Amino acid sequence: TIPVIAVDGPSGVGKGLVTRWLAQRLPGWHRLDSGALYRILALSAHRRGVDLHEARAVAGLAPRLDIRFEGASEDDERILVDGENWTHDVRRESTGALASKIAAAPEVRAALLQRQHDFRQAPGLIADGRDMGTVVFPDAALKIFMDASPEERAQRRLKQLSAKGIQATLAPLCEEIRARDERDRNRPIAPLKPAEHAEVVDTTGLSPEAVIARVEELVQR
Ligand code: C5P
Repeated sequence: TIPVIAVDGPSGVGKGLVTRWLAQRLPGWHRLDSGALYRILALSAHRRGVDLHEARAVAGLAPRLDIRFEGASEDDERILVDGENWTHDVRRESTGALASKIAAAPEVRAALLQRQHDFRQAPGLIADGRDMGTVVFPDAALKIFMDASPEERAQRRLKQLSAKGIQATLAPLCEEIRARDERDRNRPIAPLKPAEHAEVVDTTGLSPEAVIARVEELVQR
């Protein structure tokens, strides 16, 4: 079977950093950004005027979307949906909020399951999300659960957004992150929590280099 490294955790915790680093560290390995799939589906429904509470209608859009990810780093990332460049809109915090609303519906999660499994290709997959280790790839060879305080995650997200030229302010961002976390942790289906046997990495107060060093240690084992 094709090995999977599952990296889960709340928003803004640094999963993108870690999974992109792993994808460079492990030659040929693929990367799944599962959050982007939820974002794209939510945005697509929103743009078509589909009511986000109509879970069946939202889920029905999932198999039809032509989604392509390009670029290995955050800076040259390009997300193409049906041939259009959606990168900027997909990364907005407001899109993250829409995503977490549709993500609470079992129909939506089921509809995205196959698309996520399709990313599992040789020589291996690094999967970034909320339920990679618990639901989507329960047989993952390594499961990492990253965490950090909401304040620190809001600070990091602010930096990340401003580097991309997206305007934001800290207090409302922190509030949005908290609200999204709460939804993700308390939903009845696939709630955000560490998988059994997951390695928990608390990154509060850690530099990106220190986080990478800790992950390197786990991969070496
Ligand atoms: O990781 P990202 O911030 O892009 O995810 C956006 C939202 O999509 C999350 O807040 C969560 O509600 C949902 N999501 C999920 N399961 C995943 C990935 C993302 O429910 N595996």
